[in-house]
Amino acid sequence: MELVYVALGSNVGDRQAHLKRALDGLRATPGVEVLRASSWIETEFVGDGPAQGRFLNGVAELATSLSPAALHGVLQALEVAAGRPADHLQNHPRELDLDVIFFGERRVDTRDLVVPHPRWRERAFVTAPLEELGLDLSSRPPGREVELLEAGHQLSARVTDWTQGGCVVGLVPTMGSLHAGHASLIERARRECDRVLATVFVNPLQFGEGEDLAAYPRDLDGDLRICGRAGADAVFAPAATSMYGEGFCSAVGVGREAVGMEGEQREGHFGGVATVVARLFAMARPQRAYFGEKDAQQIAVVRRMTRDLGFPVAVVACPIVREPDGLAMSSRNVYLGPEDRRAATVLVRALRSAREQFGRGLRDRDQLIAHARAVLASEPRCHVDYVELRREGDLSPTAPGDVDGGRLLVAGRFFDGAVPVRLLDNLTLTGEDGE
Ligand code: PAJ
Repeated sequence: MELVYVALGSNVGDRQAHLKRALDGLRATPGVEVLRASSWIETEFVGDGPAQGRFLNGVAELATSLSPAALHGVLQALEVAAGRPADHLQNHPRELDLDVIFFGERRVDTRDLVVPHPRWRERAFVTAPLEELGLDLSSRPPGREVELLEAGHQLSARVTDWTQGGCVVGLVPTMGSLHAGHASLIERARRECDRVLATVFVNPLQFGEGEDLAAYPRDLDGDLRICGRAGADAVFAPAATSMYGEGFCSAVGVGREAVGMEGEQREGHFGGVATVVARLFAMARPQRAYFGEKDAQQIAVVRRMTRDLGFPVAVVACPIVREPDGLAMSSRNVYLGPEDRRAATVLVRALRSAREQFGRGLRDRDQLIAHARAVLASEPRCHVDYVELRREGDLSPTAPGDVDGGRLLVAGRFFDGAVPVRLLDNLTLTGEDGE
């Protein structure tokens, strides 16, 4: 027998009668013994749902021989018996709400049930009745906090729990020093997946000699806070030795998508990206993985690698998040000197200006590129690496002559700050990326 705490709540109809019937139902269930119940307390509704009546809440202490999943099934059946429709919307008024808060010392992490309840500590209508029953809450594990995983075997164990529990896992690979752009990927994954894993790893394989590997900004504490707020369940932040075991020497080759632009400027870069992303796919076994359009060529390379190697992962592209003045957010922006920070908006201004010309009917590829280049040339602090117009999607090259759309991509360097900074930006000429 295990000791279990179940929170009860009702804010529709005869609330007291619903709660009493629930306790009677539990008493009548084979394998369940109701040991004690707290008194009922009246509380305001908290949460994001529609305005609704006050709740009557309490907690029951049970001893049970049932498994967590079986008890969860019993609680759901009692909710339905009280009149709660099977397709009941979250946070809407309800005749009866029954939640497992603690199940012995167990940790359950399945699609339908998470124990300890992820938000138990935030809810006074749970903590007050538990205290009334005499529980020492300080010794209880907190609810869902973002969990830091540093070793491959920890990641593997967590992912196994999730997948065995039927969860759809969303992966958000990053190199840390996170900002609102990264957070937007995690938030999207939170909306679309049952579990969200963010990774923070400054991948040495994708940095060339003389690039900013050593100077790449690092702030794991800040990253964990941002991941937690954006809704990640766990963050995998391995040391280089946990990511690549001793003697590691295999690599993913890349091809067409990696030719030109970043592939030309940064030799070996996309091979390093494809290798680490493949490694993360293998370790985290996600069904969905989220990438930002700021690195549009990276998405094309990752899509190709995913398809060619047969990973069963949906690669999801997310729009660029920008500073109020239009500069695309980047971990490297912190290294811009103040003058360069002002000058760096020239990248987005050049792109938007060319898109405006396209909107006015200019269709010739080279004239559109020349237009963007002219705007870039107005800012001597920006050293342009490339301006290219590629086809939307696979980013294959466009032919000279008229175009009917496409993605305009730019990279520029700035030299005024503590270290030289290279920035990327892009947008679609037709505006379907919402830019
Ligand atoms: P990193 O530069 O940290 O970026 C992680 C993810 O965040 C990438 O998919 C990137 O496109 C996205 N991102 C960055 N800035 C963004 C913005 N302003 N708006 C929207 N998304 C943005 O890209 C990498 O790391 C690495 O190459 C990685 C894929 C993690 C492999 O090491």
